[in-house]
Amino acid sequence: MRRWALLILTLICVSVKDISGSWEEWWTYDGISGPGFWGLINPQWSMCNKGRRQSPINVEPDKLLFDPWLRDIQFDKHKVSGVLHNTGQSLVFRVEKDSKHQVNISGGPLSYRYQFEEIYFHYGLEDNRGAEHQIDKHTFPGEIQLYGFNKELYHNMSEAQHKSQGVVGISLMVQIGEPTNKELRLITSAFNKVIYRGSSFPIKHLPLSSLLPSTQQYLTYEGSTTHPGCWETAVWVIFNKPIYISKQEMYALRRLMQGSQLTPKAPLGNNARPVQPLHYRTVRTNINFNKISQGTSNCPDMYRNMHYTATQWPREHSMRYRSIEDLEMLSPA
Ligand SMILES: *[C@@H]1O[C@H](CO)[C@@H](O)[C@H](O)[C@H]1NC(C)=O
Ligand SMILES: *[C@@H]1O[C@H](CO)[C@@H](O)[C@H](O)[C@H]1NC(C)=O
Repeated sequence: MRRWALLILTLICVSVKDISGSWEEWWTYDGISGPGFWGLINPQWSMCNKGRRQSPINVEPDKLLFDPWLRDIQFDKHKVSGVLHNTGQSLVFRVEKDSKHQVNISGGPLSYRYQFEEIYFHYGLEDNRGAEHQIDKHTFPGEIQLYGFNKELYHNMSEAQHKSQGVVGISLMVQIGEPTNKELRLITSAFNKVIYRGSSFPIKHLPLSSLLPSTQQYLTYEGSTTHPGCWETAVWVIFNKPIYISKQEMYALRRLMQGSQLTPKAPLGNNARPVQPLHYRTVRTNINFNKISQGTSNCPDMYRNMHYTATQWPREHSMRYRSIEDLEMLSPA
């Protein structure tokens, strides 16, 4: 009798394990396994449907709160090696696990030291969509998200992602234009090696910190991972300048497929979760337009009316715009 019970229990455990294995493969960005259903596919992902502090969001410039106590983001300078994967849902770069020199992320709004873990690539099949976060309803053609986990409280990403203060998401908006980001080319040159689901390609000596745009201005809010299980454990930091990718690189990215070589299915692009309601969360920023005209008073004041406004972005930038590196997403109204 005992033996039977044990056998049945073992069988149940094995089959549950099988199902959860396939669940991880099951979700998509459209149809009956798309974002509206993530929370129903797997009970562990219920926050995807029930959560009220979800990501991504649309940033409304006139509701931004200037916070004089926000510090600069600290991002370790050294290079990382890892592997670029086509997961069938996204293009993901994961850092080498046993690397001696991990990249620390700290400062900014972060109360803890985080360890860089992975990069997610979100992009559109057309230029007018792709990014997950929006700025005043404007959607960039792509968004690169650098995820780190709280190294002071947790052992690894899988433990941290569903625990309090577990994750940081650094968001870089991607604009099509020249001159392009040189460091990004280390990754873009591998796009043709990861066309099908399950393919991967090693990338060595990636200078992560050089991927970041040349600004310390950012927006920050508390939200979730933008992929299942949508755990509300993420501090988001969105830099105030995009990085640039060429038309050719974008073309190569759009050739990636969701399926295998035998059944390629649809292109991988348009892998963006729709924006989620803010539900009375505050988006803070360290952008201080009054610095120059401040004059006599150095008193930081959270309630100073900054009148932020979103930049009107042309479809595509070219060399004609000489000061392209100076273009910011938010400027004084
Ligand atoms: C990251 O932080 C840990 C713990 O403080 C430290 O041992 C390590 O040297 C840091 N990495 C770098 C590159 O500074
Ligand atoms: C993550 O850390 C937890 C707790 O130490 C451990 O049980 C788990 O096996 C680790 N997972 C991975 C993928 O390393």
